Amino acid sequence: MGTKLIIDTDPGVDDAFAIALAALSTDVDLLGVTTVFGNVPLAATTINARRLLQLCDRPDVPVAAGASRPLVYPNPYSAEYVHGVDGLSGRSEALPEPARPLDERDAVSLLYSLLKAADEPVTIAPIGPLTNIALLLAAHPGVREKIGRIVIMGGALDHGNMTAAAEFNIWSDPEAARRVLVEEDVPVVLVPMDLTYRCAVDTAWLAELAASGPLGTMLESLTPDYLAHYRKALGWEGIVLHDAVAVAEAIRPGLLRTESFPIDVDCGLGPARGATLVDRRRRREPGTQPVRTIEIAVDTDVDALGKFVLARLSGGQ
Ligand code: RIB
Ligand code: CA
Repeated sequence: MGTKLIIDTDPGVDDAFAIALAALSTDVDLLGVTTVFGNVPLAATTINARRLLQLCDRPDVPVAAGASRPLVYPNPYSAEYVHGVDGLSGRSEALPEPARPLDERDAVSLLYSLLKAADEPVTIAPIGPLTNIALLLAAHPGVREKIGRIVIMGGALDHGNMTAAAEFNIWSDPEAARRVLVEEDVPVVLVPMDLTYRCAVDTAWLAELAASGPLGTMLESLTPDYLAHYRKALGWEGIVLHDAVAVAEAIRPGLLRTESFPIDVDCGLGPARGATLVDRRRRREPGTQPVRTIEIAVDTDVDALGKFVLARLSGGQ
């Protein structure tokens, strides 16, 4: 039955496309969705996730709420200026109300339960701040053997988007990101914004999605505030579906080309806080100890990826 998947998310317009991509894919066993603070506060990300699964006719998928703030330092910022006041361009209430109640477990408990019960390796796709994932691995280290891989949208090799140095998901909780990316021994694929920006889609792509049917029309209707932001960020009429790129890799391994590098995360309180420092030196000081590496997504067939996501969201498989 394909990829067993859990998505940890802060919807968020691009998260909405990523959740729909997984929910509509018949080769994906979407075990659950957990929510985290990020683009908007936790209460909004949680109702958004529940409504989006109802939109996709997936009331079978449990949703559990997780961290409302970072591990250590309070989080003064969210991204309403990108995603709209409710996280979905002010259109969250236009989505269907969820038939399924919020899961009574918290996010870490749901992640733990699903992983413990899984009879084959599970992919986790964190597409928001990594707070829930750091907490899971700290509280339940034994679940690492049940995790096939963690496919994360986050980080930047060149410059950031939240600051000159840091990408939003990492910047939102650098300590959690460092725990997952540096300190834990679980296979990780990091999909940085350098690659997701190259996968931006234009308004013709959005129009084709909108014309594909009622679900595509509704997804496209969530984008106005996001388009207004990315029109300026890109300099042309398009949007960057960061999280859909990561989830596309999670459900179609190998869609993105990756290379192995060591990584660190700046957890200082200076201007580089939240920067992901990827060590791309091919030769390191002689005699240094081997260090952990993770897979960094560096390239893809951009057209093929766009076609893949559009086909899945349009009901094609
Ligand atoms: O920097 C982009 C990431 O931050 C995406 O996951 C977006 O949804 C926001 O969470
Ligand atoms: Ca996100």
